Amino acid sequence: MLAQLPDDFSALVLGASGGIGHAVLEALLASQKPGRIIAVSRHALKLEDPRLECLALDITTQEGQGALAAHLEDTPLHLVFNAIGMLHDDDAGIAPEKRFEDLEFDALAHLFHVNAAAPVMLFKTLKGSLQGQHPVIFASLSARVGSIEDNGLGGWYAYRASKAAHNMLLKNAAIELKRLNRQAIVLCLHPGTTDTGLSQPFQARVPEGKLFTPDFVAKHLLEVMDQRRPEDSGSFWDWAGEPIPW
Ligand SMILES: NC(=O)c1ccc[n+]([C@@H]2O[C@H](COP(=O)([O-])OP(=O)(O)OC[C@H]3O[C@@H](n4cnc5c(N)ncnc54)[C@H](OP(=O)(O)O)[C@@H]3O)[C@@H](O)[C@H]2O)c1
Repeated sequence: MLAQLPDDFSALVLGASGGIGHAVLEALLASQKPGRIIAVSRHALKLEDPRLECLALDITTQEGQGALAAHLEDTPLHLVFNAIGMLHDDDAGIAPEKRFEDLEFDALAHLFHVNAAAPVMLFKTLKGSLQGQHPVIFASLSARVGSIEDNGLGGWYAYRASKAAHNMLLKNAAIELKRLNRQAIVLCLHPGTTDTGLSQPFQARVPEGKLFTPDFVAKHLLEVMDQRRPEDSGSFWDWAGEPIPW
């Protein structure tokens, strides 16, 4: 697993109770290679492993990011896997827009906050753990629909645009982080359509065989990360290891 990283590497998984985040956490726990795993989600996880530290906090808030920084105390991190993101929120009345009439200031701002601002704020929060000379992979889940070049269908304004913003912010962060750690690899990853709460209302349209399990996706995303090198930092890949145009 992740041949670029040393034995006993330290991993941070954000969104560890979400479908894909949890599957990546399980894959890390199934391997002997990680020596320390910090799992962050808004609700406490019930998992036992001597290498595991579970934190219940919301990294979309200043308080949550501050609590994470206080916990880490600038100790080196080798893997950061960010799996937070949202498409819809039934309680808040947020759903992907189909037409101009569906556009709402609040929904646009909220998705930009969760999908784009929170991930890039992690670089400020984790700077002390990322800088140095140790190998680092910082992978954050994006979505193919965030590709401007790939947009042939329209719709889903807030989700598409917040993922495009995510990608620009991560590209920027890759450039700055290279100056602080020449071994750092920053990646935007598309998991493919995966059977989780996020995709659940939209699964009817997914072609046969194209709805992946979270375990399948976790395995493939770890392989995609394994194949990347520092010269790939600031790039966008799908679950199958194919590059995606911005
Ligand atoms: N599923 C797909 O088909 C698909 C396709 C393309 C891209 N993606 C991307 O993959 C990532 C993971 O999605 P998933 O499918 O695993 O979905 P999921 O099961 O709904 O998990 C989403 C995660 O995001 C966090 N989150 C959601 N809304 C939040 C909010 N308002 N504040 C703070 N945290 C919030 C949740 O955190 P807690 O752990 O704290 O609950 C959860 O862990 C997302 O970025 C998504 O855009 C998914």
